[in-house]
Amino acid sequence: MKWRLPAAKESVSTPIEIRSKHEMVFSVFLLFLSFVFRNNAVINYPELLYVFAALLIFNFIFNRFLRQAAVSPWLVAGSLFVNGMLITWAILYSGGPDSYLWVMYLLPIFTSCLLFEKPGIVLVTLYVLGLHLLIYTGEMGDMGALGWLQVLGRSGLLALSAAVTSRLAIAERSAQAESRARQEKLDKARAELIQSEKMAAVGQLAAGVAHEINNPLGVILGFAQVLAKRIHDGDPLSLPVRSIEREALRCKELMQNLLLFSRTSKLEEKSETELTKIVQSALPLVEARTKVAHVELVADLSAGLPKVSANQNQIQQIVVNLCNNAIDAMPQGGRITVRTGLAKDVPGYVELQVQDSGPGIPKEIQSKVFDPFFTTKPPGRGTGLGLSLVYEIVQRHKGMMTLESEENKGALFTIRFPAANSADHAAAARETGGAEARV
Ligand SMILES: Nc1ncnc2c1ncn2[C@@H]1O[C@H](COP(=O)(O)OP(=O)(O)OP(=O)(O)O)[C@@H](O)[C@H]1O
Ligand SMILES: [Mg+2]
Repeated sequence: MKWRLPAAKESVSTPIEIRSKHEMVFSVFLLFLSFVFRNNAVINYPELLYVFAALLIFNFIFNRFLRQAAVSPWLVAGSLFVNGMLITWAILYSGGPDSYLWVMYLLPIFTSCLLFEKPGIVLVTLYVLGLHLLIYTGEMGDMGALGWLQVLGRSGLLALSAAVTSRLAIAERSAQAESRARQEKLDKARAELIQSEKMAAVGQLAAGVAHEINNPLGVILGFAQVLAKRIHDGDPLSLPVRSIEREALRCKELMQNLLLFSRTSKLEEKSETELTKIVQSALPLVEARTKVAHVELVADLSAGLPKVSANQNQIQQIVVNLCNNAIDAMPQGGRITVRTGLAKDVPGYVELQVQDSGPGIPKEIQSKVFDPFFTTKPPGRGTGLGLSLVYEIVQRHKGMMTLESEENKGALFTIRFPAANSADHAAAARETGGAEARV
């Protein structure tokens, strides 16, 4: 038999749940009181009992509703309307203006503070104050100064409670929203830190073995190339020698990719260039594969974008890697759209988007695809370094990267680079009015 520890109770009661619990207890208490004081002259019995029972049942049902799903504000408003009516009845059946039950008007006010924004709270408070006045209608004619003072005093108290509670509730809600946002930021920063630690580990490993492997690899490649030149096409040794050359080149490339993770990479020279130009120069590298794979390659590129400070090779590598992944994901063919433009939501940035019409990336693996060596491809087909390399390059360019994907709706990678000169960016945004010229 397996043992399992009881799950820790994680859920914290929301203010609404706490309120409903107390409200229920309070309603039962009222029922009890009205029964005990049934012979009191000011009480209409059993009418008062019925009103409290109605209040209890109505709120019991409504609170179930509140806990389940997002309840529409109109439904909440309806429930407050009914509550207000029932409370007014209860007051009328327990002595009218002399009843102490007027304090129950605080209930709808508190509920509105918990669930509504300011305008809603004001409306509910006005409604409650109106009902409160209604209680005095029969006696307004012969009410003395003291009577008016009572009306004013009670109304003032209700209004004051509304003002204070709403302030507290709204401040609490905005503090909660702020802390949620802060937590999200923290989580994101932590995830980035973990990712960059993983990269650094790969880099250290690569830097350690690179020297040892690069030298023998250089020898293998060098001799293979010499041999390949000497051997004629018809020679039986031609195929093995060319294979040695090709595979040695592949190893060299892999080594170079791994070295990119180590901060000692020599490919750091950056220059101020137009993103669109680099992307254009990378597309022919992709086209060879798209044609064979029956994939349509759509280039939607903007001219006149602000320049970015970038390493051309590395940006090309981003385009090639993202397009290669898209091609791999669509063995039956499909469409890849490569877009460049101003980043609309992030001023001062230009963006590169690569979108495909493939099967998309399942939500469960979206957080893993940037991990070094994470791949879903069969052994020998993918190293799992492509996206982690892209991520590393984006980091080095002080850029940002997002992935949006839904199953069967393709994947969209958006990469944003800071414009090298922000004045440049402002000018481009002014000239194009946000809609850039297409190449
Ligand atoms: N456009 C895409 N559509 C669907 N899945 C994708 C897409 N891009 C990446 N993936 C998924 O992310 C995984 C990781 O991609 P990554 O480029 O890092 O490695 P890889 O393509 O598997 O190997 P490598 O790029 O080293 O040859 C892929 O194996 C694939 O499952
Ligand atoms: Mg890849």
